Amino acid sequence: MDALIIEGPAQLKGSVDISGSKNAALPLLFSSILFDEEIRFKNVPRLWDIETTLSLLETMGAEFSWEKDEGTISILPSIKTKMAPYEWVRRMRAGILALGPLVAKYGEAKVSLPGGCAIGARPVNFHIDAMKQMGISVEVEQGYIKAQVPKRISGAHIVFPQVTVTGTENLMILACHAEGATRIENAAQEPEIVALGEVLNRCGAKISGLGTPVLEIEARRLNPPVNPISIPPDRIETGTWISASVASRSELLIRNCDSAQLTSIIQAYRRLGTGIDVLSDGAQMKIRPPDRYEALELETAPYPGFPTDMQAQMLANLCLAWGKSRLRETIFENRFMHVAELRRLGAKISVQGNVAEVDGPSILQGAPMMATDLRASASLIVAALSAHGQTKISRIYHLDRGYQRLDRKLSALGARVTRIIE
Ligand code: EPZ
Repeated sequence: MDALIIEGPAQLKGSVDISGSKNAALPLLFSSILFDEEIRFKNVPRLWDIETTLSLLETMGAEFSWEKDEGTISILPSIKTKMAPYEWVRRMRAGILALGPLVAKYGEAKVSLPGGCAIGARPVNFHIDAMKQMGISVEVEQGYIKAQVPKRISGAHIVFPQVTVTGTENLMILACHAEGATRIENAAQEPEIVALGEVLNRCGAKISGLGTPVLEIEARRLNPPVNPISIPPDRIETGTWISASVASRSELLIRNCDSAQLTSIIQAYRRLGTGIDVLSDGAQMKIRPPDRYEALELETAPYPGFPTDMQAQMLANLCLAWGKSRLRETIFENRFMHVAELRRLGAKISVQGNVAEVDGPSILQGAPMMATDLRASASLIVAALSAHGQTKISRIYHLDRGYQRLDRKLSALGARVTRIIE
């Protein structure tokens, strides 16, 4: 397995270009199931999760071509089996995103339950309950979700008990194919939902309220998108680069980003003391770390709150802040796996329930660590940039699921990072 060796403390210099958004690309790639014609994409990031998505679509019968360096993909859906098997969905929970498009297009689907992962049980009961409200019969048997449309998909008034990103994506797609209007309350407001909804609207859907907690959706026949679907920049990768700039106390120019999607992240890092200049109408940001970082209190929340996918990276930064910081994780029940690893560098972090308390500043010392999940691996890298001495991070395949060769981008900025096979 691959591991990274990082010599710290690192000094970064220059600019970094943000890749396409993983969490925008996945639902958009699965939405190709809705069409019979070839669907084209551009600015697709080169990630393991993209590889897994294409392989899953291929097992259903789709054909695809992927120019990895250009970031372009074309998919000819030609779906033959409406099944997303466990062997793929267990590798990538987002395989649940095949459920909505398969039922919408073919009236049936057999999709493996995603199962849990390092950060939590990750149930999909909200998806299933809402589908039943729309007249879809859904059984869960032997680890599979079996969905069938007995007569028609009916519009419904859905109120999600908790905000669910992929739940909103699946139900938004189904609602476009229902008879009658659908209202979704407590809908996710993430930019990835807006990106998917805007593409569906360009295909003839009638979705209003995108980016707000209430979506109104009327059924419409969808036509395939005329132009290639362009994947927007990854806001979590952008936030991770702010975190890396702070960790290495290096000025950094971030390009090809969309600062409008980062309001809560920018606010949090400005409270830490970081200078952030928004340039070029938000497509660039200049990060200017201060001499002293101030402790802060923060909690994760659904968009537009501070994203749970940035919690681990921020926690690594708070180790450098003066005073006691508190970070409350409100989305997932087990998203502090990175804490035990950060402690190995000398971080003074205690966890009580869903609150992590950090005493700082700590002088972190390099040590071997092990990645446990995608965003935790980013957090360990951020910490290694500020640690003194050599750090080895094992199981770095977690990182490659969601970041396009972060190690190469770091090396290009002057960090001493090498990838080894152990
Ligand atoms: C999406 O996961 C993202 N993944 C996650 O990013 C992100 O952390 C998460 O949203 C929260 O923002 C993709 O978009 C592919 P949820 P998702 O449904 O949709 C509970 C990353 O690092 N819940 O919004 O699976 C659930 O347990 C990944 O890129 C139910 O109880 O998350 C969690 O506590 C990690 N029942 C909360 O809601 C359900 O039916 C939010 O989950 C659905 C969710």
